[in-house]
Amino acid sequence: MKVISSICELRNCLSEERQNNKTIGFVPTMGALHDGHISLVKRCVEENDICVTSIFVNPTQFNNKQDLATYPRTPENDCALLKTAGCDYVFAPTEKEMYPEPDTRIFHLGPVAEVMEGVHRPGHFNGVAQIVSKLFDIIEPDKAYFGEKDFQQIAVIRVMVKELNLQTEIVSCPILREVNGLAMSSRNMRLTPEQHQKAPLIAHTLKESTTFVPEKNVQEVIDYVVNTINNEPVLQVEYFDIVDRNTLQSVKNWKETTDPVGCIAVFCGEVRLIDNITYKNKLS
Ligand code: PAJ
Repeated sequence: MKVISSICELRNCLSEERQNNKTIGFVPTMGALHDGHISLVKRCVEENDICVTSIFVNPTQFNNKQDLATYPRTPENDCALLKTAGCDYVFAPTEKEMYPEPDTRIFHLGPVAEVMEGVHRPGHFNGVAQIVSKLFDIIEPDKAYFGEKDFQQIAVIRVMVKELNLQTEIVSCPILREVNGLAMSSRNMRLTPEQHQKAPLIAHTLKESTTFVPEKNVQEVIDYVVNTINNEPVLQVEYFDIVDRNTLQSVKNWKETTDPVGCIAVFCGEVRLIDNITYKNKLS
């Protein structure tokens, strides 16, 4: 496994691989890797001749300076995990390498970017589109792998790929969870032991709420989830919405769509956690 920080060097290596007719898969990450990330890398290794993983904490997608400053960084451990998973190239550039000039591009990401995370993290998805478009331009992957933990991010990336007429196939991969149900996240490292013990209530409540469908209506399910989680003093729901899985717009009743998705953001102390669940629509 090669660890590369220069764009030029990575381009040269990948162009040689391409000349040898190798297919290239790509997993973009911000490091502090856990089994969720590694599940994407393993799938990428299985489905492509060459697997490239990037590690870059992208400043333009953080709307909160404190969140950027405290984002965990574990480069040695990341490389050890990637090597074991069979990754071929790690791309770990500096900020200067990725942003030699400030990126002033504005992407038109449409209605999927204007709800939920789009409302609560202004500018976040534009920053994601800036970095992922740069990475796609450098790596030109045949396939790129994204986790459904960031359900809305996948929809936004698909819009960006269309807008830029890119050929990369976007592959979405299931959420990996801890045994207690908590969705794995680099931010979990920042939880205190007490918070870590309470945080699984988020996933537990989401799962429990699927059993109420279709007897309870959409609003009743939303109220149940929000109230149950907010009843735990350590947790504070920022938003919870039940949306169409393609348009990401709110659904008002179960008959409107197939397999709607409940998307949630919760503060656990200072740490912001997100998760989502699919409601199997037994009516349609
Ligand atoms: P990061 O949060 O490091 O996540 C990298 C990828 O791993 C994303 O596609 C994310 O959805 C996936 N992932 C995270 N936790 C997961 C879990 N528990 N199960 C399955 N997949 C999981 O998402 C980003 O970085 C950035 O926005 C990025 C796309 C790299 C652009 O900077």
